[in-house]
Amino acid sequence: MGYAPSPAWSPVEAAIEAFLAADATGRMQRYIDFLRIPSVSALPERAADCRAAAEWLAAELRRVGATRVEVSETGGHPIVVAERIEDPKLPTIVVYGHYDVQPGEPLDLWKTSPFEPTIRDGRILGRGSADDKGQIVIHLNALEALLATRGKLPVNVKYLFEGEEESSSVHLEAWMKANPERCTGDAVIISDTGFFEGNIPAITIGLRGITYLQVDLVGSYLDLHSGAFGGSIVNPANALAKMIAGLHDADGRVTVPGFYDDVIPLGPADRAAFAALPFDEAAYLAAIGPASVAVGEAGYSTVERRGGRPTLDVNGIWGGFMGDGSKTIIPAHAHAKISCRLVPGQDPAKIGTLVEAALRAAAPAGVTIEVKQLGDGHSFITPLGEPYLEAATHALRDTFGSEPLFLREGGSIPIAALFQQELGLPVVLLGFTPPDDNAHAPNESMDLANFEGGIRAVVRAFDAVAAMGATPR
Ligand code: BES
Ligand code: ZN
Repeated sequence: MGYAPSPAWSPVEAAIEAFLAADATGRMQRYIDFLRIPSVSALPERAADCRAAAEWLAAELRRVGATRVEVSETGGHPIVVAERIEDPKLPTIVVYGHYDVQPGEPLDLWKTSPFEPTIRDGRILGRGSADDKGQIVIHLNALEALLATRGKLPVNVKYLFEGEEESSSVHLEAWMKANPERCTGDAVIISDTGFFEGNIPAITIGLRGITYLQVDLVGSYLDLHSGAFGGSIVNPANALAKMIAGLHDADGRVTVPGFYDDVIPLGPADRAAFAALPFDEAAYLAAIGPASVAVGEAGYSTVERRGGRPTLDVNGIWGGFMGDGSKTIIPAHAHAKISCRLVPGQDPAKIGTLVEAALRAAAPAGVTIEVKQLGDGHSFITPLGEPYLEAATHALRDTFGSEPLFLREGGSIPIAALFQQELGLPVVLLGFTPPDDNAHAPNESMDLANFEGGIRAVVRAFDAVAAMGATPR
């Protein structure tokens, strides 16, 4: 395959570099093998593939020298745990990633099939290359290189790789409560975030929470002739469109009663941090689509709306005739999937209930309404000045040669708040995917310079934590 990594990052010690140079082809092959497994957590027919990905990971962890490797049952897709305890006096880092991926669809927009990864133009293309298998592979390679060259790690490490992150981590909380010893240490490194515009390294210090629901409206037993019935009965698709339109006002604010009640407002320091980001709004919009404009809640900048304010969005809407050509019917039913991104202060379960109540209140007579809550996760914010954040900052700065930015991101990683709030652990989001990675979209890819740098940055982060010593407990 002839893969020669380009050093757009600073090398670490010579022995590790020599090991990594000799293993360059091998690690790309393993990366590809992992990406080939279509471990889509949302699709029931992919359950066996999720398990295969978990087994693949467990085998890799055993091969490189991790101990107590287990594929642990959750009631859903399994969690892979492993560890390497060098010395109880050393600090222990919990490393989290997820082996599940988003569906590959729409397949026709991919340059190559999502589960047949290819390397082109310095990037590896395939579903999960960035989110999040590539970041797990970074950790596996760092572990392997450290053990192969030094014979031991500078810190203790516990690995926790879950298989339901893309489906709201539904079984994770109960599993963590049942297996606390597998999840605790001095600090957590989550590698499931990325860089900022222009490949500037970044540490994400905030994530939004989420609540997700599905609404189903039924108007009639069967689809009806729109000539014979149109104008005389409720059309559930029309009704749903009107209900959804009513969820925002003219200023882009969500109209659900109580939606903003618990929001902790952005303070002057938060707003200054957003304003200081080197954000190129024109480039951001140009990359999105031919007619993109920035919209959203009045009174906030684009970066604030994206990372620091709550939202309500339709993720999918369907019903009636969706084939080619025309068919004249009043659909029997109409459906939508709706999610809200939430900010500190908002409780996901409470917001889910409020949105459900608002939808029920808005449903007209003439339809039945059913609302299903499909999962949620809490928002996350990490205090600046936290020592483990400093260690990660050093690792990124020394590896990528520029000062990392601190970001509040709009995405969600439900486990971050669980580690922080339930287990009281400091959490550092140390991720390596640049913003043009197309996560969740066709042609997802990972910049191989960032992948290579990521391996070095993990080595440096472990060394930096070792230099800090263990937190007294
Ligand atoms: N890697 C993302 C989270 C992310 C996205 C962080 C963008 C920062 C910026 C993660 O894999 C993800 O997609 N999470 C889901 C969670 C949801 C299903 C509960 C998300 O945010 O949609
Ligand atoms: Zn994702």
